[in-house]
Amino acid sequence: MNNDLIKNNLLYEINDLSLDNDDLILNETIFHNANGYIGVRSNFEEGYKEGFDSIRGSYINGFYDFAEMKQAEKLCGLCEEKQTMLNVADPQGITVMFGNETFSMFEGEVVESSRFLNMAEGYTGRRVVWCSPEGKKVEITSKRMTSFVSLPLFTIEYSVKALNFSSDLIFESSHIGDVKNYCNPNDPRVAGESFDHLVPVSADIDDGVSYIVTGTSKSGLTVCTAVKNVLMKDGAVECAVNGHKTAAHIRTHIDENETVTLVKYTVFSDSIRHEDCRADAAREMTEALGVSLEAHYAAQKAYMDNFWEQSMLEIEGDDDLCIATKYNIYQLLQSVGKDEYSNIAAKGLSGEGYEGHYFWDTEMYMQPFFTLTNPEISRSLVSYRYSILDGARANARILGHKKGALYPWRTIMGKECSGYFPSGSAQYHIDGDIAYSTIAYYLATKDLDFIAEKGAEIVFETARLWMDTGNYYHGQFHINDVTGPDEYTCIVNNNYFTNASAQYNLHWAVRFYNLLKEAGKLSVAEKIGLTEEEVAEFEKAEKNMYLPYDEELGINPQDDSFLHKEMWDFENTPKDHYPLLLHYHPLYIYRYQVCKQADTVLSHFIYEDAQDIETIRKSFAYYEKVTTHDSSLSTCIYSIVASKLGLADKAYAYFGDSAKLDLFNLHHNTKDGIHTANMGGNYMAIVYGFGGLRLKESGLYFAPSLPKQWKSYKFKINYEQSQIQVEVKPEESIFSLIHGDAKTINVYGKAYTLKDTLTVPMNA
Ligand code: BGC
Repeated sequence: MNNDLIKNNLLYEINDLSLDNDDLILNETIFHNANGYIGVRSNFEEGYKEGFDSIRGSYINGFYDFAEMKQAEKLCGLCEEKQTMLNVADPQGITVMFGNETFSMFEGEVVESSRFLNMAEGYTGRRVVWCSPEGKKVEITSKRMTSFVSLPLFTIEYSVKALNFSSDLIFESSHIGDVKNYCNPNDPRVAGESFDHLVPVSADIDDGVSYIVTGTSKSGLTVCTAVKNVLMKDGAVECAVNGHKTAAHIRTHIDENETVTLVKYTVFSDSIRHEDCRADAAREMTEALGVSLEAHYAAQKAYMDNFWEQSMLEIEGDDDLCIATKYNIYQLLQSVGKDEYSNIAAKGLSGEGYEGHYFWDTEMYMQPFFTLTNPEISRSLVSYRYSILDGARANARILGHKKGALYPWRTIMGKECSGYFPSGSAQYHIDGDIAYSTIAYYLATKDLDFIAEKGAEIVFETARLWMDTGNYYHGQFHINDVTGPDEYTCIVNNNYFTNASAQYNLHWAVRFYNLLKEAGKLSVAEKIGLTEEEVAEFEKAEKNMYLPYDEELGINPQDDSFLHKEMWDFENTPKDHYPLLLHYHPLYIYRYQVCKQADTVLSHFIYEDAQDIETIRKSFAYYEKVTTHDSSLSTCIYSIVASKLGLADKAYAYFGDSAKLDLFNLHHNTKDGIHTANMGGNYMAIVYGFGGLRLKESGLYFAPSLPKQWKSYKFKINYEQSQIQVEVKPEESIFSLIHGDAKTINVYGKAYTLKDTLTVPMNA
């Protein structure tokens, strides 16, 4: 089995004899289990030794408490409260005793130790061969799964094998309700203070299942976790409640060469999704126990088979890159919320970095993968934004706007959570980003009914916001005092990316208005009081949008003042002063030409038709020199634009940095969680970058190139209910219609009808 998995790059395995605290905490993230609803970090069941740091956490997507966000000066409209994702309970604990000895990686001798992630079947595992101080040799394996089919379910199958002895065997399995979130006062990317968010409600045992119900201190939410331990041989199981924890004491015997297995089932339920989460957890537990563990594994495998079939992406080339790319795609699936109560947090469900908040990361980096491979999930992501549209309207009023909706820069349930508004609320481009991804969903599916039902309202309300933010100056529409994607340049006039995205947003507001009108599906206009005159204003602003251009350099300046600033002194900036945000006062950074991440270069990908290729080429060269890529959202975009410009070596180098970021901990902070946006960006670097894919109203475009390091690559996408496979080889690209109606596709600018298979020579 393993050979096949390794060949397909679906098994990631490490031998980790190291008990270095940094490695342990990193692997908690790398091997976490998640299914879009719940996420459990990969902690050792038995814990570490005294004094070791650990982020021991289990999370529910969209489940939050409010936390105070102190503002030193009470300016009007600043947020004083944020939402924060909670660590909800700890169902991971299992310790095992052989006679008088307890298994610990920190005592006796660890003879073998490995961890693996099986992406074909959707589980993680750990295998240890351990010799106790008294010489008892055991093999311990644990297999963990968060089910994609029964979203509330997390299982641990924990097996021990006595290799050279027989003895009494005791498992202590804990279920802990009084847990806390992790904090680090010295890192702005995780919470700085630890609050008591959880309030015990009840802990009880019913029919061998322990239930822990916990409330939140401020948001009025409730969570219930239920745990059942099933010993797969005869033995005595006793459960006891102790405060807001329960413990199961499981006693049996093990003979030499015998394997004894304990299966620990946990289900999670929350009051956002269920009125009575204690009752729901009981129902889910009964359902989970009603089928065998093998059946749960089989269902998981069937789900994964379908997932890999839909989102197939194969590279023949560098093994490290292949596995990193598969890992990234797998993490997108683990992270994405699949209901309207949740979205994709910046760290997925793998850790507490960015407190479980949703940013523009979803729309511009992760959602494109789902739009192309699983449009239903993409639609659900738009539905989530639709569900918080009223929150966005309220947010716009807080910021003084008389009309329109302004989405919060970071949020869980719809209210703004950014403490530092210059690089938070001021990033108005989030409106354009959400509109862009809604439009992309439409372009990929032509699902006008969904646009009529939800999408258009988002696009109209965000268009209104631009009208209320900008103003005409010398006949052109300007947008002042906003922040673009690059957070090293804040509160500027006419950020090029923002203006380009507002232009696209306004263009599509007009387009949707007309499309819906023609189709007789325009009831939303009446609902929100949108008039023909307002739509004519949208069109006028779109046509007159000011897009900064510098004649002398032949580039688009990032904003009106960017080119007036002095260059950052890169030569004299020590390597350990990156990321700059951790070493320099923000104001100091703002005064220089230095970018944290792709900004204008991002627009040259997303809104590529706004400029000619020469301007894009010069802009790329210019911004490349001043970009630090301190944000993980950057190198993937540089890779895509380098591909577009035919800069193959650069495209590949940027792609490699992006692909391996988490698996190889390149930013040294993967312990706080994966960089989910980069993972989506990495997918885009292949499909949009090397594959040259673009979704436009005029059709589907490709311009394939093959990195010289690879023999070939292929991927599948969904387009208007058809599935298309693209295979890129050194001499040619082969397009195959896997199912659905024939489609017109454009390859290197030439239109072809794809009926079954089409072969196009490289660069023809
Ligand atoms: C980036 C933002 C991003 C956020 C969350 C920041 O470092 O600058 O663009 O949205 O991280 O990933």
